[in-house]
Formats: sequence, C-alpha cells, structure tokens
Amino acid sequence: MELEKRIQGKVLRDEPLSKHTSFGIGGVANYYCKPKDEGDVRTLLSFVRETRIGLKILGNGTNILFQDDGFRGMVMENPFRHWSIEEDVVTAGAATPLAILISATVQRGLGGLEPLSGIPGSVGGALITNAGTVAGETSQPFLSLRAFDLDGNPVELKGEEVQFVYRKATLPKPLLIKEVSFQLTPKDPGESEAIVRDLLRRRKETQPTRVKNVGCIFKNPDGDHAGRIIDELGLKGFRCGNAEISRVHGNFIVNRRGATAKDVVELIQLIRDRVLQERGISLELEIEIVGAD
Ligand code: EPU
Repeated sequence: MELEKRIQGKVLRDEPLSKHTSFGIGGVANYYCKPKDEGDVRTLLSFVRETRIGLKILGNGTNILFQDDGFRGMVMENPFRHWSIEEDVVTAGAATPLAILISATVQRGLGGLEPLSGIPGSVGGALITNAGTVAGETSQPFLSLRAFDLDGNPVELKGEEVQFVYRKATLPKPLLIKEVSFQLTPKDPGESEAIVRDLLRRRKETQPTRVKNVGCIFKNPDGDHAGRIIDELGLKGFRCGNAEISRVHGNFIVNRRGATAKDVVELIQLIRDRVLQERGISLELEIEIVGAD
C-alpha cells in the first residue's frame, strides 16, 4: 500500500526542506512526513526499515542545515506536542516549542526553565543539543525522557543515562524522543519573568533577530567565544553568495534571501581557515549539517 494511505497524517513527496528550516535553505526530501500520532510514527519507522531509506527527525528546524541536493529518504516531523504539570515536574512532548513551555511553567509559579528563554527550538531539539544560554542549559532541569528506538520499541532514560556535555547529549542509541520531564522548583512568577525578560532583551540587542539564521554556527572554544574571535579578525559582513557573516554577532550566518547551502558551507570554511591560521584554534560546528544521504 502507498505510504500516503498507511498513515493518518501527511506525506509530502519531493518537499523543499527550505520551507521547514529557520535558515530557509535546503533541497528536497523524497518523503517529508507529518505523522499525526504514535501509531503513525511506528508505521513510518517500519516503512524506513522495510525500504532501508535514510531517516532524519526534525524538531523546529532551527539548528540544522540541509544541503542543496536535499535528503534522500524520509524527513519526519516530531508530532508530540502535549504537555502536563504534576506537582513540580513538567512533562512535555518533544515538539513542544520551548517558549510555550517556559511561559506555562513560569505562570504556574515553577522555575527552572527560564535560562532557556529565547532559544527558538523545541523541547526534543533542546535536549539533543543540550541547548543553553549564559544562564544555564537543558541538562540542568532534565529528569527523564521517553522515546522510541528505530525499531519502534519504547525506551525510557533517566538522569545519568543521558550524558550531557556542552551543546551535546549522548544517547545510548538513536532515538525518536516522545517526551521529556523536567524537575522544577517553586518560584515567584515575577522573579522568573524578570529573568526571561532580561535574556530576551540581551538576545535582541546582541543577535540578529529579523533575518533567517540558525543561531550560533560554532561551539565556543575553551575559555573564549567564537563570535568574539570572528569579530576581532574583522570577518563580520563577509559574504559568500547570499550568505553573510552577521554584522550584529560574529557567530551567526544570515541568509540574505536566496542563500544556498553551498554559500553557507563556503563561508564556514573561510571562517575555520582564518581562525585556525590566525589563532591556532579549530572551531567545531554547533549546528548540524545534513548531507543528501
Ligand atoms: N562578542 C563580540 N563580538 C561579536 C559577538 C560577541 O565581541 O560579534 C563578545 C561579546 O561582547 C561578549 C562575548 O563575545 O563579551 C560573548 O558573547 P555572547 O554573550 O553573545 O555569548 P556567545 O558565547 O557568543 C552564547 C551562546 C548563544 C547564546 C548566548 C547568550 C554558544 C555557541 N553560544 O553565545 O547560543 O544565545 O551565549 O546566552 O554557546 C546558540 O546556541 O545557537 C546560541 C546563539
């Protein structure tokens, strides 16, 4: 039976990934799937296994660059958007936008997620990338997660079963995350709102907000900031095609309408080469670059 008829959600063929990423860049995916529920997810996972095609799970698409030749295989949106609060623990579907969860918990007088304010991603994406700000990172309030392995079996991981380092979580095997639980603590909403406001204001002042981008491109090297180094080397405003090193923050690349992945990759290489040459530092990518297969 055709895949379209096997699930309740949607299957789009040859769908441009530029429509689904904050960079607005990326070629087509053979299958772009929007499952409706857990049943759909299992069906799609078995299709991937049967046909042995590649699979990429997408959260909010805010930290990823797909190449211009797209993705051979299936890109699947994570469908889990439920959330609930029980005492001082919040459990949220992986596709829940962080901003929604932060505002809901703050309103209920629960603190712990405010340090993640301004991060544009989803709960699952934040977990996998251990997303953070100067104020803290996802690993700190993390309690447990429930997920599926790629055979569709349920998996639960608690506390130290997920290993976190700066901007990265290591899972025991590839997983499609269903939901994540965070341990919060009672906190006066006024106090939390002040933290949120401060982080959002700082972000607005120091980062490009109205142009297409994927946040910081590089991880910060030990004891320094990639943005500061790129700025000091006078690279802000440099362009490859329509991709430009942000004039606001050196660790951002912005898509000045119509940039290709090739433009961005060239610019990344240019920055890496210069930083290595001038400072002896090998910058590591913070974003994920996904090839055609
Ligand atoms: N700086 C410059 N020039 C620049 C950019 C920064 O001189 O063009 C200087 C700043 O003046 C400051 C220092 O570098 O003294 C650090 O800058 P910032 O406060 O912007 O912090 P960052 O280390 O560049 C990190 C995260 C951001 C997060 C901010 C704020 C990484 C790679 N980046 O940036 O996260 O939003 O702190 O909390 O860890 C992301 O993960 O995508 C991201 C943007």
